[in-house]
Amino acid sequence: MNKDIVAIILAAGKGLRMKSQIPKVLHPICSRPMIGYVLDLVKELKINRVITVLGYKHEEVRGFLDAQTEVVVQKKLIGTADALKTALGNLKNFKGALLVLYGDTPLLKKETINKLLKYHFDNNLDATLLTGHLDKPTGYGRILRDKYLSICGIVEEKDADDFQKDIKEINTGIICFNKDRLMQALKCVKPNNRKREYYLTDTIKLIYKSGGLIDSVQISDTNEAMGINSRLELAQANSIMQRRINEKFMLGGITIIDPGSTFISYGTKIGQDTVIYPFTVIEKDVKIGRCCFLGPFIHLREGTNIKDDIVLGNFLEIVRSNIGPKTMAKHFCYIGDTKIGKRVNIGAGAVTANFDGKGKNRTVIKDDAFIGSDTVLVAPVEIGKAAKTGAGAVVIKDTRDKSTVVGVPAKPLKEAK
Ligand code: UD1
Ligand code: CA
Repeated sequence: MNKDIVAIILAAGKGLRMKSQIPKVLHPICSRPMIGYVLDLVKELKINRVITVLGYKHEEVRGFLDAQTEVVVQKKLIGTADALKTALGNLKNFKGALLVLYGDTPLLKKETINKLLKYHFDNNLDATLLTGHLDKPTGYGRILRDKYLSICGIVEEKDADDFQKDIKEINTGIICFNKDRLMQALKCVKPNNRKREYYLTDTIKLIYKSGGLIDSVQISDTNEAMGINSRLELAQANSIMQRRINEKFMLGGITIIDPGSTFISYGTKIGQDTVIYPFTVIEKDVKIGRCCFLGPFIHLREGTNIKDDIVLGNFLEIVRSNIGPKTMAKHFCYIGDTKIGKRVNIGAGAVTANFDGKGKNRTVIKDDAFIGSDTVLVAPVEIGKAAKTGAGAVVIKDTRDKSTVVGVPAKPLKEAK
């Protein structure tokens, strides 16, 4: 447990560049609000106290955080220095280090931050910056160094002159501070910049001038510290996170034929030896068993639970449904709000008509049933054990175990004759 550290997550901003009504930190990456990844990081680092600074639509963001998360609300969004000051209001008696994280920087890894913290404590520094190098550093604050190459300040892109804009060393935003030093510096920050904001980054110059010790740890993969400001970066971060998720699955014994066209949400569970064919989209809250074959072209939506040894083939959409082991649905289907038993065969083109214009209704298909091609199951409806439906049947009534129904509307075979 890291007792002498408090993590502060700055997440009050609106995220103007996202051009959105949704607070920036709630925009999802692999189906999870980006701030979730920052909260995970803090947990992995075993930092037991975290203060999250919220502002724009803070109630909405708070709804995503768990009840234990300590939250402060920044009243006016007048800059990152003010956001930090707001958090410090909760830390009057604390002595130690403050790790500043940004809610819009979701790709950071634990190893990187541990390295930063170790360097900070080993060298007894007042401020330790995580910096990176970028060929195109547009948008990031640039690191200023004095003639001895010591860090002496940070200049924001908007305030940088042409020479400063050429600096390739950037501020990732992640800084570990000695709390007392930071407090002194924060008192002196002025909004003397193009945005008229109180910049946290200005504390570096102030700490330098007052003789504080500042150093940096270089991040090896700058992508990890990517700040998400626009939809462009959101898409880039999404593909980096997707690669990580897919790699973890592959290393865990799942075959993904084409990781580049396989979209699996954060938190998905998949059993060993399942094979996923290209163009598969798996949304959040989906569970998949062992030895399944999925795809190509399949869309598994929220609340789908698939047991072992299941084959789901081309062009399928499944939502809020449970599917029992050894069931097959190999060609174009829609299955919604459905419970399917074991060893069921769903023919090509079968559809559950789950929406009656007002609400959603459930379909139950029991073990060993055989659903003929192009069957429409008009919910609420139940197909009995080992029952069969003929091709093109429109089933509007429950069917008995072992019965066969055919026609529109479907009737038991004998009756239909
Ligand atoms: C910031 C840094 C910049 C760095 C970059 C890295 C400052 C002044 N600049 O710029 O040096 O290179 O991040 O990604 O810090 N926030 C608040 N309250 C506010 C304003 C912002 O909590 O009043 C939060 C935002 O929600 C966001 C974070 O602080 O999570 C950073 O703010 P943002 O506006 O994205 O800063 P950048 O321009 O990206
Ligand atoms: Ca940012």
